[in-house]
Amino acid sequence: MEAQGSMGRGVVMLLVVLMALSCAVGMPVSRQRVEVRKQLKRLNKPAVKSIKSADGDIIDCVHISHQPAFDHPFLKNHTIQLRPNFHPEGLFGENKVPSSSTKEKSKPISQLWHLNGRCPGNTIPIRRTKRDDILRASSVKRYGRKKHQTVPRPSSVEPELINQNGHQHAITYVEGGKYYGTKATMNVWQPKIQRLNEFSLSQLWVLGGTFGEDLNSIEAGWQVSPDLYGDNNTRLFTYWTSDAYQATGCYNLLCSGFIQINTEIAMGASIFPVSSYGDSQYDISILVWKDPTAGNWWMQFGNDYVLGYWPSFLFTNLADSASMIEWGGEVVNSEPNGEHTTTEMGSGHFPEEGFGMASYFRNIQVVDESNNLRVPKGIGTFTEQSHCYNVQHGKSDDWGNFFYYGGPGRNPKCP
Ligand SMILES: *[C@@H]1O[C@H](CO)[C@@H](O)[C@H](O)[C@H]1NC(C)=O
Ligand SMILES: *[C@@H]1O[C@H](CO)[C@@H](O)[C@H](O)[C@H]1NC(C)=O
Repeated sequence: MEAQGSMGRGVVMLLVVLMALSCAVGMPVSRQRVEVRKQLKRLNKPAVKSIKSADGDIIDCVHISHQPAFDHPFLKNHTIQLRPNFHPEGLFGENKVPSSSTKEKSKPISQLWHLNGRCPGNTIPIRRTKRDDILRASSVKRYGRKKHQTVPRPSSVEPELINQNGHQHAITYVEGGKYYGTKATMNVWQPKIQRLNEFSLSQLWVLGGTFGEDLNSIEAGWQVSPDLYGDNNTRLFTYWTSDAYQATGCYNLLCSGFIQINTEIAMGASIFPVSSYGDSQYDISILVWKDPTAGNWWMQFGNDYVLGYWPSFLFTNLADSASMIEWGGEVVNSEPNGEHTTTEMGSGHFPEEGFGMASYFRNIQVVDESNNLRVPKGIGTFTEQSHCYNVQHGKSDDWGNFFYYGGPGRNPKCP
């Protein structure tokens, strides 16, 4: 009986394969098909449990020692660090600021898939990559990677660099010191994206090295990217590269590198809920810092979730410290029909509108060499076209160094 049953399944499988092949008549039996299957097998590790999220994602709970990082040859014998050795303390220890004294209140935030379950201990949640996710990429190999050098270069702006590759930014930054990390709190929105090949994101950048050559970058924040995820949801993301986006690095866990230890937060998964214009505001905190003894770069989401770390060997110019930190928004303007895109940055509203309407970063801090969070000195601002997207820096007791940023893209002053 059992043998018959599996033979029956075999026949069904064969039929499915034949049907799939007959659909592809006329196309060469493609190498791409094999490559896609290989890539899926590499990325989607065997799950202990899988959770279906309302946005269509499947979250796989993968045993912590089976995660993609351990495909890396340098990590074959790696002993996972289950907690950081050191943890920087902030000026704005969130417990120290009673929220009743803050007139501008924001609410805690979570991930959409939590509504449908949680991962068991010793596993980490990984957003499952689908066939379609890979097929949307320019090539199987480029899936999960940035297409262009997209770090804003505020200190070297020349007219011909403006709107390079259509990427536009509205950011604040510090440079010229030795930075061992940063922490910031940003509110979360769902900006509208005009074209499928555009995106909108808000993030921090921890940078070392030379732009366009050997730049090392650690990045984290939220993004809307139809290209990467196949929808318009706002997702938590990370990125890293050690060679200016050429051969190394990727988003989230889409290559070997980042070692996740957290059981509750999935990178690339939807953040829920998001802020609404003139109504509830939701924000997230992100802390990235360097462990002064082991040298690994750690990341924390909110006050409770230490996500994991980038092992020190991944980097060259970040081996000691970062030389620049940036915070803010970025969009792609593909200039459909020769006009500026209507893709929004942040809330899609300009900074002047202020709390409840505009997007913000607040309590931005940097980690110093003693592993303390400090007020950043000499903050600069940068935007390519302030009539399209703008940025405004300010200071207050509750919010420390903060800025509002963003905009609607195309409008009468941004044609
Ligand atoms: C891992 O450990 C094995 C056995 O001790 C050793 O043969 C191998 O060279 C090690 N690999 C790395 C990359 O260190
Ligand atoms: C995403 O938004 C665009 C318009 O901004 C819309 O055309 C598209 O259908 C949306 N995609 C999904 C999957 O909802």
